[in-house]
Amino acid sequence: MAMAMTPRSQPALAADSSASRAQRALARYFGPSRLKVDPRDCESYRRDASEVEGLLPAAVVLAESVGDAELALRAAAEAGVPLVPRGGGTGKTGGAVPLLGGIVLDLRGLSRIKEIDRREQLAVVQPGVVLSDFRAAVHVEGLFYAPDPSSRVACTLGGNVATNAGGPRALKYGVTGRHVLGLEALLPGGRRIFAGRRTAKGVTGYDLTSLLVGSEGTLAVFGELTLRLLPPPESTLTLLVPFQRMAQAAEAVGDIIEQGLGPSCLELLDARASGGRAALLPALVGPELGAAVQGTEALLLIEVDGSEAACEASAGRIRSACRARGAQDDRVASLAEQRERLWDVRANMSASLRRTAKYKLSEDIAVPRRQLGSLLDQLERLSQRLAVRSVAYGHAGDGNLHVNFLWDDEAEAPRVQAAIRELFQLTVSLGGTLSGEHGIGVLKAPYLPLEQSADLIELQRSLKQSFDPTGLLNPGKIFPPGSG
Ligand code: LAC
Ligand code: ZN
Repeated sequence: MAMAMTPRSQPALAADSSASRAQRALARYFGPSRLKVDPRDCESYRRDASEVEGLLPAAVVLAESVGDAELALRAAAEAGVPLVPRGGGTGKTGGAVPLLGGIVLDLRGLSRIKEIDRREQLAVVQPGVVLSDFRAAVHVEGLFYAPDPSSRVACTLGGNVATNAGGPRALKYGVTGRHVLGLEALLPGGRRIFAGRRTAKGVTGYDLTSLLVGSEGTLAVFGELTLRLLPPPESTLTLLVPFQRMAQAAEAVGDIIEQGLGPSCLELLDARASGGRAALLPALVGPELGAAVQGTEALLLIEVDGSEAACEASAGRIRSACRARGAQDDRVASLAEQRERLWDVRANMSASLRRTAKYKLSEDIAVPRRQLGSLLDQLERLSQRLAVRSVAYGHAGDGNLHVNFLWDDEAEAPRVQAAIRELFQLTVSLGGTLSGEHGIGVLKAPYLPLEQSADLIELQRSLKQSFDPTGLLNPGKIFPPGSG
């Protein structure tokens, strides 16, 4: 399947000579504990969570220091082979896949939290720190790091910054980039720069921090990240609101945003799990909440945070807004255990759906919130017309939905491709964007021109050229294949 979905088909191995050049160059700097060249050790690095399959890398460097990362970049330049930086491998668009082989630089060994400054409310970390470990360490210091993508137990902070990752809480707190104050970046050719700052404010020069955030490993390898921390919210309330019709839930989302009711999370779940399958959600949420969601099409999972009184007040207003759109019932999941269960179900949504079909592709388009109903309606129609099973869920408060296409027979792949193109065309026509949070990577690269003008793409190419003149850093990502 993966091959069917990649833009080009690839031989299994890069040309031998470049592989041995890479291995020889790396062997000058690394011993066997940090350098893996045996195909059995390198095989798993062909993939990430996107199911895109790259070439077998010539070598994998298990970096333990910023110096190791610099040496790996130097070796790649000496051998003239690509280098692909990699964190937890949880990316959904193939950003960490060695599409053309070469060297994979595994940064998980750079896992030190170097500093948590309570007075300035910031932290300095290495890129390989796992997000949930970081959040726990920050919590111990009485502080809070807001970004919370569903892959939090495996994804790394470097990967989060490289993809500008989102998650449910991005609605109130913004995506990862909003929490990056500065970063140390290693550029091909040996330059090491620090972009950004440690101060609460600062506007010196071009905002290169923002350019490097979300650059998907194509401009630089991160050595260190300076991240903004917040005081934790005093309390949190979670609501689960079932709707008989998907359209009602979409309208309620529009109203909640328009009325400025300020939830921290506003997630839409498809209770039908679509395509005539047995409803997935009631089984997942357990007997007590299962009864509430039985027979409904859509659920909103809503969270508010702040002082206890503020939470009660906004929850009340949100419940009224939902009732006005025909919500059948609403449950306040105040018990910690219930909340955890609901958010576990939400975080595992992608994995749960994955088990219902042989093949799955998850998109992450975003549209203006008022267009959600239209998007869902037209998605349903195009799925029926093309006979493709689709399930949409996700960060409705941000207009950002994960449209999942699921199929069992390889022969359906061309219809899925047609559905993806139509979904992207529809998204752009509604004023939306191809990627709300997963990035472009390999999978969406062919579609970039649907959203961005030739001039804009060219300007980005020239930025790439300034950072990486030889084009060896994570090639084949973001830009449409064969377009220059
Ligand atoms: C989620 C991932 C797929 O929101 O972004 O579940
Ligand atoms: Zn998501």
